[in-house]
Amino acid sequence: MKHIFKQGTNKNAPVLVLLHGTGGTENDLLPLADRISPESSVLSIRGNVLENGMPRYFRRLAEGVFDEEDLIFRTKELSDFLDQAAEKYGFDRYNLVAIGYSNGANIAGSLLFHYQGSLKGAILHHPMVPRRGIKLQDLSGVRIFIAAGDNDPICVPQETEDLISLLKDAGANVSVHWEKFGHRLTASEVEAAAVWYDTHFKVLS
Ligand code: MLT
Repeated sequence: MKHIFKQGTNKNAPVLVLLHGTGGTENDLLPLADRISPESSVLSIRGNVLENGMPRYFRRLAEGVFDEEDLIFRTKELSDFLDQAAEKYGFDRYNLVAIGYSNGANIAGSLLFHYQGSLKGAILHHPMVPRRGIKLQDLSGVRIFIAAGDNDPICVPQETEDLISLLKDAGANVSVHWEKFGHRLTASEVEAAAVWYDTHFKVLS
């Protein structure tokens, strides 16, 4: 998959996996990685699917209606890519924290749902429930931060509450931060994510 890898200065810090929103690229979330954990290595990945020229991580049939078959296929593709990247760049495959926005948060959620141990933690900006009606992997020990908008028209509050319940029922430690700016990724939710990250993941060199 098209990507950027930046070697960090602290080998023990989690590697940040950046996953952009619909129409984004691997450059979009680099400033967030700098804010959250500047000493971390960063793997920022571009989605392989194009919707009217806009990169995404999986196909959708309509706004908020996912192509489940493609979601499953693309989640495996991303999981396999993370395996390959860990080998190529020599980082610990089991020390990954994802930062995803919108469609990128949804594929990160799908990784958590389908692949045990795929992520140690995740910062999900405006995620939806990637798939319903399946048994999730055991998420014990996985720490997840969710930023949501209580007036988000794409991801309504009930969707966020459903996602929190599913993740908690699978054993994850979930924190949620609510804002009032619709589906926007705001500077203040990034600040809240940074505080959460320092509490859960900050490691000394
Ligand atoms: C999705 O398709 O993943 C969600 O609707 C969010 C979006 O990317 O617009």
